[in-house]
Amino acid sequence: MGIYDFDTVIGREGTDSVKFDAAPRLKGRNDLLPLWVADMDFRLPDEILEDLHCRVKHGIFGYTEPGAEYYETLQSWFQEQYRYRLETDWNTITPGVVFAIGCAIRACTEPGDAALIQPPVYPPFAKMIRGNGRKIVNSQLVYENGAYRMDFDGFERTILAEKVKLFILCSPHNPVGRVWTEEELLRIAGICERHGVTVVADEIHCDFIYPGHHFTPWLTLPERYARLAIVCTSPSKTFNLAGLQLANILIPDETLRSRFQREVHACGYGPPNAMGLAATEAAYRKGLPWLKELIAYLNGNLDFVRTFLAEKLPQIRLVEPEGTYLIWLDCTSLGLTRKQLNRLMEDKAKLWLDHGDRFSAETALFERLNIAAPRAVLERAMRQLETAISKRT
Ligand SMILES: Cc1ncc(COP(=O)(O)O)c(C=O)c1O
Repeated sequence: MGIYDFDTVIGREGTDSVKFDAAPRLKGRNDLLPLWVADMDFRLPDEILEDLHCRVKHGIFGYTEPGAEYYETLQSWFQEQYRYRLETDWNTITPGVVFAIGCAIRACTEPGDAALIQPPVYPPFAKMIRGNGRKIVNSQLVYENGAYRMDFDGFERTILAEKVKLFILCSPHNPVGRVWTEEELLRIAGICERHGVTVVADEIHCDFIYPGHHFTPWLTLPERYARLAIVCTSPSKTFNLAGLQLANILIPDETLRSRFQREVHACGYGPPNAMGLAATEAAYRKGLPWLKELIAYLNGNLDFVRTFLAEKLPQIRLVEPEGTYLIWLDCTSLGLTRKQLNRLMEDKAKLWLDHGDRFSAETALFERLNIAAPRAVLERAMRQLETAISKRT
């Protein structure tokens, strides 16, 4: 038994939550159990909330900037969790990782240049490339025997053929749940170095790694590879702080960093959100015990979903995740079209998941399930799915 409570179901309706309250706008209905967008239905522990209460009590919220303690806290976190030394001047704060990706695209490419992604992948990568007038180039991950891997030859061929300037790596990978090994990262790093490709390494999910797997931070690769990269980190997934809008973007190479910072400033972004700053510092300073229990709880949720599917819904294949709280479900064996699968999930099972066609055309018959919810919520979701499927047959 741990000391933190992840079992209590806390209502989030009426808090302007995108996950819960945007249903009428996005779905035109309000009867779905939301297990979609990547935030968690867990409350932060009191020791972190205390610092936020203290900041609120002060009552003055003028422009803020991180002080020495902020950087020391960050340094200790990355040193203790990931065994690398973070230099203070590597860091640029942005209001989020997607914002930073947009800036990186503009900093490292010209309009019309090609930027490469590995679908199925988090949809805003493509949106940012397209939105900034660059060309999206895909190197599809290979799905074989229920698992995903990179296609290294195809990756290099595509870089050459399309004169790719920028690669956006999702590490760990959302939605397929891969935690790339050091060997895999070294291979793509070598290819990117050979062809002068800048790497945006989105490591936002790096704190969620399941037992038996090991996360390799890009910045622990040899220095010549570390220098190729803009590494996106954030406490927002780890500590459920997305609404407080703060990411730490790490860039060891000085020239690359100043190009990136020019783009951030050109957007008019300067002093960060005061509450985001306070929350980040408190979370990285005091949050580790909570995080450890959270990961064990998520592992229990994963066990529950895995067992339920194997015993009751073998037509749905779990793509075994190595990390992240996003579970990728292969629903191909249900024998439905995408439209029919939507009807099954929404009209019959009353579940709001992220549909696979958002991540790539090839994965139209997949669903992404967010398991960062109390176990009772997942049990309800699985029962609703079982009933919907049993009624169909
Ligand atoms: C891979 C990945 N990157 C970035 C984000 C969002 O980051 P932010 O809210 O900081 O823009 C998400 C959220 O789901 C994500 O999964």
